[in-house]
Amino acid sequence: MDQPLPVRYAVQDGVAVLTLDNPPVNGLGYAVRNGLVQGVDRANADAAVKAIVIAGAGKAFSGGADIREFNSPKALAEPNLQTVIRTVEASAKPVIAAISGACMGGGLELALGCHFRVAVAGAQIALPEVKLGILPGAGGTQRLPRVLGVETALNMIVSGNPVPSEKLKGTPLFDEFLEGELVAGAIAFAQKVVKEGRPLKKVRDIKIDYPNADGFFQFSRNTIRAVAKNFPAPLKCVDAVAAAVSKPFEEGLAYERSLFVELVQTPESKSLRHAFFGERAASKISDASEATPTRNIAKVAVIGAGTMGGGISMNFLNAGIPVTVLETGQEALDRGVGIIRKNYEGSLKKGKLTPEKLDQRMGLLKTALDYAAIADADLVIEAVFEDMGVKEKVFRKLDEVMKPGAILATNTSTLDVNKIASFTKRPQDVVGMHFFSPANVMKLLEVVRGSQTATDVLATVMKAAKAIKKTAVVSGVCDGFIGNRMMEHYVRQALFLLEEGATPWQVDRALEKFGWAMGIFRVSDLAGNDVGWAIRKRRYVEKPELAYSRIADRLCEQGRFGQKTGKGWYLYEPGRRDAIPDPAVAAMIEAYRKEIGVTPRKISDEEIVERCGYALVNEGARILEEGIAQRASDIDMVYLTGYGFPLHRGGPMFHADTVGLYNVVRAMQRYAAMPRGDKAFWAPAPLIAKLAAEGKTFN
Ligand SMILES: NC(=O)c1ccc[n+]([C@@H]2O[C@H](COP(=O)([O-])OP(=O)(O)OC[C@H]3O[C@@H](n4cnc5c(N)ncnc54)[C@H](O)[C@@H]3O)[C@@H](O)[C@H]2O)c1
Repeated sequence: MDQPLPVRYAVQDGVAVLTLDNPPVNGLGYAVRNGLVQGVDRANADAAVKAIVIAGAGKAFSGGADIREFNSPKALAEPNLQTVIRTVEASAKPVIAAISGACMGGGLELALGCHFRVAVAGAQIALPEVKLGILPGAGGTQRLPRVLGVETALNMIVSGNPVPSEKLKGTPLFDEFLEGELVAGAIAFAQKVVKEGRPLKKVRDIKIDYPNADGFFQFSRNTIRAVAKNFPAPLKCVDAVAAAVSKPFEEGLAYERSLFVELVQTPESKSLRHAFFGERAASKISDASEATPTRNIAKVAVIGAGTMGGGISMNFLNAGIPVTVLETGQEALDRGVGIIRKNYEGSLKKGKLTPEKLDQRMGLLKTALDYAAIADADLVIEAVFEDMGVKEKVFRKLDEVMKPGAILATNTSTLDVNKIASFTKRPQDVVGMHFFSPANVMKLLEVVRGSQTATDVLATVMKAAKAIKKTAVVSGVCDGFIGNRMMEHYVRQALFLLEEGATPWQVDRALEKFGWAMGIFRVSDLAGNDVGWAIRKRRYVEKPELAYSRIADRLCEQGRFGQKTGKGWYLYEPGRRDAIPDPAVAAMIEAYRKEIGVTPRKISDEEIVERCGYALVNEGARILEEGIAQRASDIDMVYLTGYGFPLHRGGPMFHADTVGLYNVVRAMQRYAAMPRGDKAFWAPAPLIAKLAAEGKTFN
């Protein structure tokens, strides 16, 4: 059987049409690039052909590089994209790009190498490379400013965001804006070019006239530096565009290439690419495939209209899926619905939502006090009090009333999902959906797979997660799942650091300098110190062998629960969230050290960051060994999307890989050997020890 050609060749009325056919977005993989060069050569060799049109099959022109070939030799194999563009540009017969749908990255660079471009409305024009920590490497930074002007082009290259084609109508990017069928229009345009004997235009020949370029680029650098923070690529984009103005074309091209090669090697770009692929990998379940059937989710019910229930409901309303919330009393329902409405009104005031959308979303929301009203929901998510007795009542009732095949989910943070499933006669339909607060904002969703959860239930929930725009990560059942289980050890180290000589504000500053969104003591004050206290009290009984600093208990004994009480590790002024270091806390810590006989020592920021970070990594390794997480990148996605781990470092496991597991193990041994070192804590998990010995990595 013939394989479908990645570039189809057909001649119509003297015009060769090269159709890129590489679903889903006509990525410029090796076979496509090869097909393009062959097609251009063939058309030039055929006397009957007068012009060439390049178009995309399906909706897109081309979404750019084929991500399936990333990190493989095929990505760079000749003909590479530069060669393809040079071939197109050098064609003796006019080449016309027919642009619709996605025209991004390498796809846009290819179009810019054509002599003419025609487009329809609704195409998405972008150079999104910066989002992967690189810049366009096949002339995009040199050609786009020549057709769109320096400012528009720089904006697009630095942000990576798509611009709809109609917004760029009238610029030299497009020679004609078409209505009606694109390829037919492009062929007609090509014939016109031939008939009128129009000279072949090359974008490279356009002169950029930009007075006071230096001043503009200096201003841009200052603005962008502040926003780009830990990422080098945006500033390099400015350098590349500046070269388009100051250097001859070929030199600019070479300079762009050198910046590209430099950026590809940076840890920041590697981290962004890791997160990009990690997000895709996380949605895959090891024992399911695209062919695994999923159940239809057209109606959702949420039990409990509290903090989590409200936020969870909003996710589905935003996606256009009707939700019924069930509560124990009318007052609780009114309060819950009121908060949802207030949230939407807040978005309305900020201009992020239209009044129509607000009405539409609120119109999808129903309330109920009786389970009969939710019996036909396809998915029900329980978000009642964190108490096994309450959960038991709810799940027994759900088992009784819900239609067969309904998915029964729990949002529990700490309770055993298998136990919850056992309250029903359909444990295969029970699953955990662990949202993070605020649930309408936070990207992360841990999907907890019980020992009996059916594969199609899991696949359905992963699909639903995508519909509500969450990053879903599968976790097995264990105390704390992936995220909180690791966090506990991070917190344990942070508390030991206080005992040994650090202050809460020193720890927080060091973690924030490393890139964490917020230091752990500020986080704790925000979440409520009483939450951790309750967990520790349980641990003292369940796992007395685990070493814990009692310093946080002292804080809680004084009622310092954090922001909600105006005092925690820090002081808070009424109505403000600024964390103010409190001498009383420093004195309390000092007194505690005396009590346990510790002479404080000076602790470096490096030690703080390593001890907290490697505590996460060691537990992450155990989570992998036990099969709680499917892959190391899933753990990284949990930390990037739910816990504020710095994106430019790619997640705790990826960061450990970057440091080198050998070095991580050596650091653990060093911390174990310190006078107050906890040898049990720092015993490397067998997986780390093994990988380090073999010179391997997690990812
Ligand atoms: N708050 C968080 O940060 C967070 C994060 C993730 C998961 N969770 C989990 O989500 C669940 C809910 O937490 P929350 O913070 O929203 O609590 P909450 O106290 O704000 O809300 C619980 C709601 O459930 C209602 N409720 C209690 N029993 C009920 C019953 N039998 N039937 C119907 N409604 C009932 C209550 O009236 C209340 O409105 C808990 O399991 C919690 O562990 C909380």
